[in-house]
Amino acid sequence: MTVHIGAKEGDVAPTVLMPGDPRRAEWAAENFLDNPRVINNVRGMTGLTGTWKGNPVTIHGSGMGMPSLSIYANELIRDYGAKTLIRIGSCGGMQEAVKVRDIVIAMTCSSMGTPSKGTFKELNFAPCANFDLLMSAMSAAKKRDIGVHVGGIYSSDTFYDERPDLNEQLTRHGVLGVEMEAAELYTVAARYGARALAVLTVSDHLQTGEALPSEERERSFGDMVEIALEAAFA
Ligand code: HPA
Repeated sequence: MTVHIGAKEGDVAPTVLMPGDPRRAEWAAENFLDNPRVINNVRGMTGLTGTWKGNPVTIHGSGMGMPSLSIYANELIRDYGAKTLIRIGSCGGMQEAVKVRDIVIAMTCSSMGTPSKGTFKELNFAPCANFDLLMSAMSAAKKRDIGVHVGGIYSSDTFYDERPDLNEQLTRHGVLGVEMEAAELYTVAARYGARALAVLTVSDHLQTGEALPSEERERSFGDMVEIALEAAFA
């Protein structure tokens, strides 16, 4: 048991999928894992462990934003021995070629700073995906009838953004999409020698204003769960 996770030692699998929403964690575990059981529910941040093709897997919510994800990633890796962490979530598209419903696999993440900024001081640490996971996720995604993009994303501190100039600059520098967690996941994983990746569905588009209808969100989320599981055990 840690400050924020009530699981017992051995309850957390070496492979952890992390959606932002704990109810999504429940849905994913019930639909994709065999014999899922709840291992954490502190503050309603549900985590479940089951198996996929015989491999133990935990699916645990991260909450929204880097400070929340940071707490869970730290405790899952440091205290429960998680070795592979894959964020499954949504992002806002920032390039014309990146369409709503497409999948974005984050190679690296720009940010104003992560919760680790104080630790790095003058250093601009470059958060980076695990290469093997990234390659495997790309292969898994390409087998499906969905657009797939691999490249840089922006991990923002705000959803309700007041800096259109910043978005314009990021777009001009080829950043594919915006979300709010991956940079810190990659940074914490790097600190402890764990593997990390973010697989994201484009749920809305900053330039076109298009948004994924709610009935399609579930299917897209299911695609991401499958891609993450295939990548983790490739
Ligand atoms: N901004 C930040 N995070 C997001 C967005 C967005 O537009 N869409 C999905 N996650």
